[in-house]
Amino acid sequence: MCGKLTKDTVQVNCDNEAAEKGSYPHFMLKEIFEQPRALRDTINPRINEEEKKICLGEVKITAEQLKNTDRVFMAACGTAYHAGLIGKYTIEKLAGIPVEAILASEFRYNAPMLTKKSLLIVVSQSGETADTLGALRLAKEKGARVLAVTNVVDSSVAHEADDVIFTWAGPEISVASTKAYVTQLAAMYLIAGHFAELLGTVSKKEIADLVIALKNIPDQVAKFLEQKERIEQIEQLAVSLAANENCFYIGRGMDHPVAMEGSLKLKETSYIHAEAYAAGELKHGPMALIREGMPVIGVVTQDHVHEKTISIVEEVVARGAQTIVVTYEGDDRVAKTAGGTIFIPRTAPLVAPILAVIPLQLLAYYTAVHRGCDVDKPRNLVKAVTVE
Ligand code: G6P
Repeated sequence: MCGKLTKDTVQVNCDNEAAEKGSYPHFMLKEIFEQPRALRDTINPRINEEEKKICLGEVKITAEQLKNTDRVFMAACGTAYHAGLIGKYTIEKLAGIPVEAILASEFRYNAPMLTKKSLLIVVSQSGETADTLGALRLAKEKGARVLAVTNVVDSSVAHEADDVIFTWAGPEISVASTKAYVTQLAAMYLIAGHFAELLGTVSKKEIADLVIALKNIPDQVAKFLEQKERIEQIEQLAVSLAANENCFYIGRGMDHPVAMEGSLKLKETSYIHAEAYAAGELKHGPMALIREGMPVIGVVTQDHVHEKTISIVEEVVARGAQTIVVTYEGDDRVAKTAGGTIFIPRTAPLVAPILAVIPLQLLAYYTAVHRGCDVDKPRNLVKAVTVE
C-alpha cells in the first residue's frame, strides 16, 4: 500500500529569450557571429565547385526572356535596399543590364515605367514589408515579372513573386539586420552571375573567379570573427565613438552602399546621428562640418578608387577628424593615413562588401552597448514595417 505523497512546489524561472541567446548578451551579437553559417547555407547549394558554375535552379527566367526585358528595377527598404544597391552594381557589371534601384517606399509614387517586359527584383528579409509588397503588387498589375529575395519561406513576398531565392539566414530577432543582410548580398552575386551566364556576358574564367570568391567568403568571415584581438580593437574604437553625437561614413563605388549600411547600423542601435556620403561628395557640403574630433569612418576596398578615397581621408585628417578606415590586410598606405585601421582579409573587390560590413556591424554594436542602448530593440523601430 502506498502512503500519501507530499510534493513541494518549486518556481522555475525560465527565460526563453536568454536560452535562445546562449552565451551571447544580445541577439545582434549572436547573429553577427552566425554569419559564416548563414552565408554557407545560402551560397553552397547554389554553386558547383567542380564545374565552377552558379546553379540557381529556382530562377526560371530564360535567356530569351532576359534578352527581351526592357527594364530591370530593384526595390527594397532599409538594409535590404543597401543590398539592392550592391545588386544593381553587380548585375550591371557582370550581366551588362542597366538596373534602376528605387526605395520601395518611393516606388509606387514615382510612376516607374513598368511594362509586361519589365523585371522587378524585390529584396526583403521578412517578406512582409508593406512598401516592398506594394512595389511587387504594382509590378504584377502591370504584367511585369517579379523575382524576390527573402528570408521567410511562408511570406507574402514569397507567395506572390514569380521566382523566389530564399536566403537561409535563419530567424533574425535583432531589429538591426546583420546575418540577413550578408545573405542578401550573396543572393545579389548569385543573381548577377546567373544572369551573366545566361546572357554569355562574361568569360568562364570570370564566373569561375566569382564562384571561388563566394565559396571562400564564409571562411574569411569566420576567420575575421575568430580574431580576438581584432574584436577587442573594434570595441576600443567603439568606446571613443560612443562619446560623439555625429559621425560620417564615406566610401566610393561599392564601398558607398557599405558605408550607408554601416551608418544605418550605428544610428539605429546607438542613436548617433550618422550620415553616409560617396567620398567625393564630401567637398560639396559636408566638409564644412569636419572639425577637430569629428568621427569619419571610411571603407576602402575598391582598388580602382583606392587613391581617390585615401586623398579624401587625408583631407579630413588634416581638418582634425578622428578617422577609422576598413581596408585589406597589408594596406600600409591606409594605415599610415588613418587614425585607426581595421583590417579585413583580401578578397575580390566585387564581393568585398560582405567582409567590409562585418567590422561596421561590430562597431555599431559595441558603440550601442557602451551608450547603454537597448541594442536588440531600438526605440521607435520594429523588425517588419507591415503598414505604410
Ligand atoms: C525595418 C527593419 C530593417 C529592415 C527594413 C526592411 O525597418 O528594422 O532592419 O531592413 O525594415 O525590412 P525587410 O523585412 O523588408 O527586409
